[in-house]
Amino acid sequence: MMTLFGMLQALLIAASVLAVSAKKPDVVFILTDDQDLHMDSLSYMPNVQKHLIDQGTYYQKHYCTIALCCPSRVSLLTGKAAHNTNVTDVEPPYGGYRQFIEQDLNQNYLPIWLQQSGYNTYYTGKLMNFHHVLNYNKPFPAGWTSSDFLLDPYTYSYLKSVWQRDQSPPKSAAGQYSTDLLAEKAYAYIEEGARSDSPFFVALAPIAPHANVDVNIAGTNVSHTSGDPIPAERHKSLFSDVVVPRTPNFNPDSPIGLSWIAQLPQQNQTEVDYNDEIYRNRLRALQAVDEMVDGVFKKLEDLGILENTYVVYSSDNGFHIGQHRLQPGKRCGFEEDINVPLIIRGPGVPQGETTEIVTTHTDLAPTFFDMLGIDLREDFDGMPIPLTRSGIEDAVSTRHEHVNVEHWGTVNSEGMYGNPLAAGTKQNPENTYKALRLVGKEYNLYYSVFCNNEHELYNLTADPYQMNNLFSSSFKDQEKRANSTSDLKKITHRLDALLMVLKTCVAKDCIEPWAVLHPQGNVKNLDEALDPKYDEFYEKSYETNSVSFTKCEAGQILSSEGSLEPLAYPGEVEWEDFS
Ligand SMILES: *[C@@H]1O[C@H](CO)[C@@H](O)[C@H](O)[C@H]1NC(C)=O
Ligand SMILES: *[C@@H]1O[C@H](CO)[C@@H](O)[C@H](O)[C@H]1NC(C)=O
Ligand SMILES: *[C@@H]1O[C@H](CO)[C@@H](O)[C@H](O)[C@H]1NC(C)=O
Ligand SMILES: *[C@@H]1O[C@H](CO)[C@@H](O)[C@H](O)[C@H]1NC(C)=O
Ligand SMILES: *[C@@H]1O[C@H](CO)[C@@H](O)[C@H](O)[C@H]1NC(C)=O
Repeated sequence: MMTLFGMLQALLIAASVLAVSAKKPDVVFILTDDQDLHMDSLSYMPNVQKHLIDQGTYYQKHYCTIALCCPSRVSLLTGKAAHNTNVTDVEPPYGGYRQFIEQDLNQNYLPIWLQQSGYNTYYTGKLMNFHHVLNYNKPFPAGWTSSDFLLDPYTYSYLKSVWQRDQSPPKSAAGQYSTDLLAEKAYAYIEEGARSDSPFFVALAPIAPHANVDVNIAGTNVSHTSGDPIPAERHKSLFSDVVVPRTPNFNPDSPIGLSWIAQLPQQNQTEVDYNDEIYRNRLRALQAVDEMVDGVFKKLEDLGILENTYVVYSSDNGFHIGQHRLQPGKRCGFEEDINVPLIIRGPGVPQGETTEIVTTHTDLAPTFFDMLGIDLREDFDGMPIPLTRSGIEDAVSTRHEHVNVEHWGTVNSEGMYGNPLAAGTKQNPENTYKALRLVGKEYNLYYSVFCNNEHELYNLTADPYQMNNLFSSSFKDQEKRANSTSDLKKITHRLDALLMVLKTCVAKDCIEPWAVLHPQGNVKNLDEALDPKYDEFYEKSYETNSVSFTKCEAGQILSSEGSLEPLAYPGEVEWEDFS
């Protein structure tokens, strides 16, 4: 028989076991810069493969909602679309750290909310553009228990970076390799986090595989030299035979796309060879990140906290080299730029699984909330990404199909041959557009409206490389309209109405946009919206209220963005009411 003392002891042990298992999970969030999914960069990262893809779930239809670093980072740190943060560019007046501060987001973003829920929060690496040696303390980014940021204009200098820790002044790390330094800081933060009784969230944001940018200062003249990403010395000669995958849309014989993209010249062999070397240097620069991933898992294992830690791996936006004839860069709505890596490993997350449920960067903040058991905020434009097998299976039939994609401003390409169109005019091409990606059981589509009012529609089931624009520019032309296939026309009208909702949506309307068009609540996806009984409504709404621009603007100037009010289906007329 158990003595009273023994019973007490057993109770105490049970209680402490409970306390241990109830400890909130820790999170390590790894965010690379400009890493592509579609040029196979993940295949060159064996540790990402071993620790994350083999041991976690790979969300293959994960999208950024704006393919540009700073706005994308602000979206994922706030859970809001760029049209709601109004941080839409990398630099003032429409973007950068200053706009983040001016939009009052420094008190309204992830680390603040995590701290309010009892988390210790750590960040090292690039936070966002124009977070600068001159403004890093005006004010300091809020919400971090400890932070060690890369600062502009040295952020992208792999060998001459400048770092700024907590409230200390910036310090040069010239001569040290940026990613290796970041890895050391990462391990130290994980140790520090593990020492505390509170759970931790650690964000690691290396600059790889972004281009290298060095700063030259001569007297009062400051200039920048941009070049290939610089790999660590030990990785410099890897992959000498590798080239950009020659997919069907790589440097095609005829141009594909709209506006400035349709005018791009085909690249000659000199340019292709040069861009292949950029590609190899991207893969080489990612090797130090891959080693850091290995180091992070070793550290978590050594500390005995691996089983209760979520590790999330993603990139702020994708990248293209040569697809659609494009010179190296981002900012487009093609799959190469918007479909980005997302792999999550952690307690309860299926191991070695892939899924094609639609997820976006605006879902990441809600997902962290969900992981950590924090009640969701009502102003999130996204929703949690399911992390369990049953959650994912459920999402296959219930989760929404759409991604809201947007961009404002111009486009600047990278590399020696970037911007062939701009060479004469010294002006970067306008690149403001609204777009919509839809991945459903029956449909796999991309629809976009450029600020010059050209349209695009791709059927990615038949045309995964987006080479055949199905949108007849004559849709609005009465005579020709009758000639275009009626199915496509009907689909386009629905997509346009959906895009009309998404381009200004706030919170729940971004998650359930069909409910705005059908307040009756009986339409939840494109298939249901295609019911012929709605044909007349969508046809009329497209004629009177389609997505359009009156001007290409560099930022979110609503007076140039056409109609802002979606029309709602009025419902069926109840004739009985009149009898
Ligand atoms: C700064 O730039 C100006 C204009 O390009 C040039 O004339 C001047 O020599 C430069 N000064 C230094 C110190 O390099
Ligand atoms: C290829 O194009 C580049 C940039 O337009 C040009 O400088 C170069 O001379 C061209 N090379 C060949 C072999 O045509
Ligand atoms: C897209 O392509 C697939 C495969 O060719 C076809 O079955 C489907 O009907 C197309 N969808 C649309 C909307 O045209
Ligand atoms: C209508 O479609 C047919 C077949 O694709 C084509 O030959 C004809 O030129 C089209 N007519 C107009 C007015 O676009
Ligand atoms: C976004 O910010 C810019 C620059 O501050 C401002 O001109 C514009 O009106 C803002 N747009 C919205 C919708 O708030």
